[in-house]
Amino acid sequence: MTRPGPGKHPDRDGPVPLDPFQDGPVSDDPLKDGLFREGPLTNDRVGGGALLDRFEQTWSALSRVGDEGARGYRRFAWTPVDLALRTWFREQAEARGMDCEQDRNGNLWAWWGTPGPGAVVTGSHLDSVPGGGAFDGPLGVVSAFLAVDLLRERGVVPERPIAVVNFADEEGARFGVACVGSRLLAGVLAPDAARALRDADGVTLAEAMRAAGADPGALGRDEEALARIGAFVELHIEQGRGLAGLDAPVGVASAIWPHGRWRCTFHGEGNHAGTTLLADRRDPMLPFASAVLATRQAAERLGAVATFGKVLVDPNGTNAIASRVDAWLDGRAPDSATVRKMVEEITGAAEAAGAGHGVRVEVVEESWTPVVEFGGELRDRVAATLGGVPALPTGAGHDAGILSAYVPSAMLFVRNPTGTSHSPAEHAEPADCVAGILALTAALEDLACG
Ligand code: GLV
Ligand code: MN
Ligand code: MN
Repeated sequence: MTRPGPGKHPDRDGPVPLDPFQDGPVSDDPLKDGLFREGPLTNDRVGGGALLDRFEQTWSALSRVGDEGARGYRRFAWTPVDLALRTWFREQAEARGMDCEQDRNGNLWAWWGTPGPGAVVTGSHLDSVPGGGAFDGPLGVVSAFLAVDLLRERGVVPERPIAVVNFADEEGARFGVACVGSRLLAGVLAPDAARALRDADGVTLAEAMRAAGADPGALGRDEEALARIGAFVELHIEQGRGLAGLDAPVGVASAIWPHGRWRCTFHGEGNHAGTTLLADRRDPMLPFASAVLATRQAAERLGAVATFGKVLVDPNGTNAIASRVDAWLDGRAPDSATVRKMVEEITGAAEAAGAGHGVRVEVVEESWTPVVEFGGELRDRVAATLGGVPALPTGAGHDAGILSAYVPSAMLFVRNPTGTSHSPAEHAEPADCVAGILALTAALEDLACG
C-alpha cells in the first residue's frame, strides 16, 4: 500500500546521518579488547560472547512480567504488574549492592555511589501501553544495569555517582497523561492535577498510589532530585526505521516532535436503535466519525500525524444509540504551530458535524509537550564518544525529552528492524541490544570519569 501524505516523517523516512557509521575491527571479546576506546562500535564487533548471554538472562526474567501473550504487554502504572516490575528493579539494584530509593513522585533510583550533585543518570521506564511491546522502556533499564556491571568489571572508578532510574508511568496508559513521573519531578505537572487524574474505572492516581503503598501527598517538583542530575542519558529502542535504513545498530536522538493529547467528548442522547427515527436522533457516533476522517485529512495536508486510538462509548450497547462518546486525539508534527493548527481544524470539523446532529462537542487539552532539540554539548559529547553515530529525530515522546528543559539530557537509540512499536511485534535483535549496552557503557564511562 502506498501511504499518502506530504512531508517527511522522522521515524519513517530516516534522518541524514551526522556522520556515516563506520566499521571497525572484529572483536571476539569486546570487553577485553578495549572496545570503548578503540573507535566506533559496529554490530559485528559485539555479535557474540558473554554479554549476549547476560543480556538474554536479565531480559528473560523481566520479560515474563505483564506478558499477555499474543496481546502483548499490559504494564499499567501502580497496578500489581507495575509493583512486580518495581520489585524486579529493586532486586536488580540489591544484587549489585546499589541503594534503591523511591522518590516523592514514584520514580525509582538505584545508586552506585552516594546520591549527590553531578550524578550521571541512565535508565528509562518499565510501564507499557496496552498491547505494548517488550522493548519500549525496559531496554533502557536493563541496558543501564548491564552497563553498570561492565563498568565495574572493567575496574572503572567513577568520579561522579551513577544512578539507574525507572520513571513512573511514562506511557500514561492508565491515567491519560504521559511521563507523569518525570513531569512531576520537573514541576511541569501540578501535583493536584496529577492526584486527580482518573483511570477508566474512575480510580484517581492518588487512590491508585495509596493502594500500591505509595504516598501521593508528597507529589511535586523535586528540587533535590533534579539538582543531583548532572546528565541524563536514556537508551531506547528506536520506534521507526531510521537506523535500519542507515544500516546502523545505534544512534543518538536529535529531536522530538512536539505532541499533545486532547479529550474529545461528543454529548448526544441515548435512545432505542429500532424505534428512533433517523431524523429524531442525536447520535454522537456520527460527528465522532466525521472527526476521525477530518483528522486523517488534516494530518495529511499539514505533514503531521494524528491518531484516535482510544474511544469510550456510553452505554456501548448494540441496540442503543450512544449517549456519549469520549475519544482521545494524539497529535504530533515537526513544529508546535502545525500541531495547533491541525487540532484547531479537527475541533472545527467536529463542532460543525456535531451541530448538524444536535451533538455538543467538547475538546479539552490533557497534555502538551513542546518540541525537544537534543542539541548542545551532551549530545555532541556522546556522539563523539561513540565514534560518530547517526543522529535521528523522532515522533515518540520520552522522559529524556521532559527533563531536557531542566538538565543536560541525551538519548541513544537501538535499531528496530521494522520500526514497529507500541505493538506486540516490536523487536530489536539481541546483537543490536548488546551494541546499545556497549554504547551506553562507553557514554557513561566518559561522563562519569571524564
Ligand atoms: C510514548 O511512547 C509516546 O510517544 O506517546
Ligand atoms: Mn512508548
Ligand atoms: Mn518509551
